[in-house]
Amino acid sequence: MSTAVLFDGYGDPGELYPAEVPDPVAGPGQVVVWYTAIGVNPIDWKILSGEVREHVPVRLPGGCLGVEAAGVVVEVGAGVRRFRAGDRVIRHGRPGAFREYEAVAASQAADELTLCPDRFPDEQAAVLPVAAGTAYSALRRVGLRPGERLLVHGASGGVGLAVVRLALLLGAGEVVGTASPARHGLVRAAGATPVAYGEGLPRRLVEHAPFHASVDCAGGPESTGAAARFVTGAGRRVTIVPDPSARALGIPLLEHLPLELASTLDLIGTAPFELPVAARYPLERAGEALAHSRRGGVGGKLVLLPGG
Ligand SMILES: NC(=O)c1ccc[n+]([C@@H]2O[C@H](COP(=O)([O-])OP(=O)(O)OC[C@H]3O[C@@H](n4cnc5c(N)ncnc54)[C@H](OP(=O)(O)O)[C@@H]3O)[C@@H](O)[C@H]2O)c1
Repeated sequence: MSTAVLFDGYGDPGELYPAEVPDPVAGPGQVVVWYTAIGVNPIDWKILSGEVREHVPVRLPGGCLGVEAAGVVVEVGAGVRRFRAGDRVIRHGRPGAFREYEAVAASQAADELTLCPDRFPDEQAAVLPVAAGTAYSALRRVGLRPGERLLVHGASGGVGLAVVRLALLLGAGEVVGTASPARHGLVRAAGATPVAYGEGLPRRLVEHAPFHASVDCAGGPESTGAAARFVTGAGRRVTIVPDPSARALGIPLLEHLPLELASTLDLIGTAPFELPVAARYPLERAGEALAHSRRGGVGGKLVLLPGG
C-alpha cells in the first residue's frame, strides 16, 4: 500500500484527504513511477472547485489532483521500449499525480512522460512542465525574435518567471514584467525589468513601450488593456488565463504545442535555468499547499514531497 491524496466531491482544499491505496501495477504500454517531488499549480484548486469540470473532468469519488511530478521508473510494462527501471522521468499532463506511485502511459504519443535531464534535481524537474512548458508554447505563439521587447503580465508567478527566463534564452532584447512591488526583486533576478501592476499601469509602461509581443499570465481588464494598447501586432499577444476582456479584444487563449516539455528542454539545453521554490509541503498536507496557491502572492513554485 502507498499514499495518495484524494477528494470525493468538488469544493475547497479541505476536501483533500490522504488515503492508503493499493500499489499500482504496470499494464501493457505503462510504467510505474515513484514520485520524489510533485508540483502544485493554480489548475489544481481550479479543478477541485469544479470550475473547469467541463474541460478537465475528474472521476469522483476518489479523484486525484496533480498535473506534474518528477520521479523514478520502478516497473516497466509489456511492450515499453522508451523507459527502463531506474530512469528519472518527468510526468506531465492529466491530473492524478498527488500520490507516491502511479502507473503512467509510456508512449510518446500519450506525451505524459519525458526523460529527465541529469542536470535537474527532483524539485526543479517537478515544476518544469506547467511553468516552463506553458512559457515555451506562449513564446512560440507570439513568435518572439532576438532583440525584441516583450511585456509579461504576472511575471512573478511560476509561469511568468519561466516566460522571462525562456524569452532571454530566445534572445529577447528587453523583458518588462508586471508584479507586486514585494516581488520586484524576484522579477529582476530572473532578468526582467519589474513594473508594479495596479492603478496607473499604462503610465508606468509607456516609458518602456512599444513592445513587440506580450504574454499575459495574470488576466483581467488591466493587463488585457495594456497588451492591446502597447503591442501593436495582433498576432503577437497571447493570454494563458481564460478571460472575457481578452476575448473581446481578440487576444487568443494559449494552445499548447505537442511534445511541449521535450521541446522546452531542448531550448533550455545546458543554459542556467532554475525556478524559485517558495515552499515545500509533505504530500499528506497537499490541501495546505493548495490553499497557499489559491491565496496568491506565492513568489515562485510550491512543491509536495512524498514521505517528506
Ligand atoms: N492556459 C494555460 O495553459 C495555463 C497554464 C498554466 C497556468 N495557467 C493559469 O495562469 C495563471 C498563472 O499561473 P501561475 O502558475 O504563474 O500562477 P502563480 O504562480 O500563482 O502566479 C500568479 C501571478 O499573478 C500575479 N498577479 C496577480 N494579480 C495580478 C495583476 N493584476 N497583474 C499582474 N500580475 C498579477 C501575481 O503576482 P504577485 O505575487 O507579485 O502579486 C503572481 O505572481 C493561473 O490562473 C493559471 O491557472 C494557464
